[in-house]
Amino acid sequence: MSILKKHEIIEKNATLLLILSFLVVTVGGIVQIVPLFYIENTIEKVDGVRPYSPLELAGRDIYVREGCYVCHSQMIRPMRDEVERYGHYSLAAESMYDHPFQWGSKRTGPDLARVGGRYSDEWHVQHLINPQAVVPESVMPKYAFLQRSVIDGRYIEDGMRTNRVVGVPYTAEMLENAVADFRAQADPTSTVCPN
Ligand code: HEC
Repeated sequence: MSILKKHEIIEKNATLLLILSFLVVTVGGIVQIVPLFYIENTIEKVDGVRPYSPLELAGRDIYVREGCYVCHSQMIRPMRDEVERYGHYSLAAESMYDHPFQWGSKRTGPDLARVGGRYSDEWHVQHLINPQAVVPESVMPKYAFLQRSVIDGRYIEDGMRTNRVVGVPYTAEMLENAVADFRAQADPTSTVCPN
């Protein structure tokens, strides 16, 4: 009997096909799932990953509030063209303190995972006020109103506490100094945000 003939037997017998399909899926599932029970942590450790400072957390909240994620992903995929364009691909550990994480696939704008440090602060300020002033063909909306929406960090300790509930290891000391840290990092002499 040829191999084709044998296959025909399976194709014509629904019960046998079902049993064999089930077996294949079970074996495949076990091979993928069982190792996860034996490794302590599926997120590899990455040096330098730490919880957000109070000011960074406030900035992240603005990012989420303004829906920047609607156009920007924060996930560089492990593909050559992306790595060449944006830098090292994103690692799970880099987002371990993000609740919720901002990985996405919608890319009206470029990926922002490694944009920090690519431009000067002044560039970012100009770009947020009026993106078309620095990138004429940009479709990014203007966020000039952010200049007038001053954040004073009053509630940042609550935000950190909430993050702690979901596992971010903020210490009691960090919580106690949250507002002071926020203010120190925000630089009261800054001209960007008059208050
Ligand atoms: C409607 C879609 C859209 C939204 C919403 C949006 N952006 Fe953009 N963004 C773009 C596009 C398109 C570009 C590329 C052109 C440019 O540089 O302006 C861009 C570029 C950028 C860049 C420069 C990236 C680079 O590698 O040159 C930064 C930084 C940025 N956006 C931040 C933000 C932030 C922060 C927010 C939320 C406050 C935001 N964007 C919201 C579409 C958007």
